[in-house]
Amino acid sequence: MLWNSSDFKNDVLKKVKFLWQSIRNFKEMGTVVRSGPAMCRKMVQNIHPETDLNIIELGAGDGVITRYILSKMAPEGKLFVFEINPELCEVITDIQDSRMILINDGAQNMAIHLQKHGIEKVDMIISALPFLVLPDDLTQEILQLCKSTLKSGGYFIQMHYIKSISKMYKTIFGNVHTSYVPLNIPPGYVFSCKNGEI
Ligand SMILES: C[S@@+](CC[C@H](N)C(=O)[O-])C[C@H]1O[C@@H](n2cnc3c(N)ncnc32)[C@H](O)[C@@H]1O
Repeated sequence: MLWNSSDFKNDVLKKVKFLWQSIRNFKEMGTVVRSGPAMCRKMVQNIHPETDLNIIELGAGDGVITRYILSKMAPEGKLFVFEINPELCEVITDIQDSRMILINDGAQNMAIHLQKHGIEKVDMIISALPFLVLPDDLTQEILQLCKSTLKSGGYFIQMHYIKSISKMYKTIFGNVHTSYVPLNIPPGYVFSCKNGEI
């Protein structure tokens, strides 16, 4: 991708906005930096561009991973994007793509929103939710909802900066595949769990 000076200026503005929101709402954001390109690529590696998938993204921030998801999705797919922070949702609205349904609400309310669109289960859930800083009961509520909202054989994909939390996903989904992403600041991990596979 070739960048011009206006792309560069936009990217810097987004980084500053994300940093400002992180400082104001650290208990919801859990980080002060957005995911870098290597992390975004790893998060979308299980998407097959030939298949029309229904995908949920949780904790989209300013849409940095959202753009990578959309670039890999087939034309008839649908992407339900959940982000609780209204200021960051405003940044996401820059993305003009009819496959994206942006929902300014918590992941814990995903069932109500999917129902409105006539969807019961999805093929994939891609999450950057900061479970390490969210209350334990909310974390468990969201993860159980993810499990029941995923089709059998569907993927739950989650990023973190520490590896030991993978045990929590193994307990819920019965399996977890861990990938290390060294070229991110800070380096991190992507956990992929296949629903229904023990
Ligand atoms: C670590 S940031 C990830 C941002 C971006 N996806 C990235 O990878 O750089 C986590 C995001 O989750 C959002 N968030 C926190 N709790 C949430 C919830 N219950 N439902 C939806 N989004 C939530 C925060 O506002 C924040 O934007």
